[in-house]
Amino acid sequence: MIDKLISRFEEIFNRRPEVYSSAPGRINIIGEHTDYNNGYVLPAAIERRTHVLLASREDKMVVVFSENLNQWGKFDLNNLQPKSKRNWLSYVEAIFWVLKDQGQELTGADILIKGDVPLEAGLSSSASLEISLLKGLLVLIKKEYPPKKIALLGQKAENEYVGVRCGLMDQFIAVLAEPASALFLDCETLDYHFVPLRLQKENLVFLVYDTRVPRQLAGSKYNDRRLEAQLAREILEKRGYPSLKTLTLNQLEACKEEIDPVLFRRVKHIITENQRVLQAREALEKDNFSFLGELLYASHLSLKEDYEVSCPELDLFVEVARSIPDCLGARLVGAGFGGSAIALIKEGAVNQLINKALKETSKNNFPKPEVLVVSVGTKAFAYRL
Ligand code: GLA
Repeated sequence: MIDKLISRFEEIFNRRPEVYSSAPGRINIIGEHTDYNNGYVLPAAIERRTHVLLASREDKMVVVFSENLNQWGKFDLNNLQPKSKRNWLSYVEAIFWVLKDQGQELTGADILIKGDVPLEAGLSSSASLEISLLKGLLVLIKKEYPPKKIALLGQKAENEYVGVRCGLMDQFIAVLAEPASALFLDCETLDYHFVPLRLQKENLVFLVYDTRVPRQLAGSKYNDRRLEAQLAREILEKRGYPSLKTLTLNQLEACKEEIDPVLFRRVKHIITENQRVLQAREALEKDNFSFLGELLYASHLSLKEDYEVSCPELDLFVEVARSIPDCLGARLVGAGFGGSAIALIKEGAVNQLINKALKETSKNNFPKPEVLVVSVGTKAFAYRL
């Protein structure tokens, strides 16, 4: 693969690339919309990655070719400014911007990007691009940053330059993932550890069902949820509850009069989802996959009813999944509002689920989904060629 990519770089730019970097997309097993609420998450990297080849230039121009989109992009390092309209190039600009903000001296670069993380599917193609670029550029300028810092810089680039106020989960898993493991992360303390994923013991796989529901609005709706959560946190803080991670449902119940019903439901989701992450971690440690599956279904319900980030296409898939006995659990993954769902299912039942879901989807005139079985991947890397 890499040889082919190098030839492509040479063909496009008429020179040799200097650095190769690559970072994975992810699924999130459980812990949705908890990261920016200082809660727990349990993602795993997938074996779908964004690859980047880079060579430095003597001027201040960055020239980028996206193989997937078959598009060129170009910008001047001296003119880096967040724009109101974002596109794929904004993510590249953002990474240069964040390194400049760190005081790094940067020259221009020729860059080739190629990936197989489905775009706009809720599998974190953007974080995989950010982290791949960050790792690649650091090698190019011969600097080393610790993993947590790289993840935080990826997040900062997306928050402050691209304008999507994402949490830290996607960047963190892209930087740190280990083979055959999920990563448990406490987003408040940034303490983390790996949890074994012994799916093969019970012939289980994770299936990704990408609804292909356009997510153009996802950014702004996502930002709305963040604002709602922040508002709720401020109210609860005044009541003497500084952290949603330690707040109990009873305590929340006791504040019901002072809190708007919508905000109440948002907080209810965060509390119950944090509990589910802790339970899921334990289930994985004990290889208790049927319990894990139940937690996935419960998470979906909570995301649908309390956090309100689902959509009919995702709900339909989860409903179909429930009707298949060998499917242990399913839920929407990532920000929601379209994008993908995951299902934890016996390998032998995958086709049954796909066929039934496709039938129901077309009956409802929903967009034709893309389905893939993902294997668990590993962390980002970069090296000089
Ligand atoms: C997106 C964000 C993450 C996280 C999820 C929801 O993927 O990038 O930080 O908030 O949504 O859990």
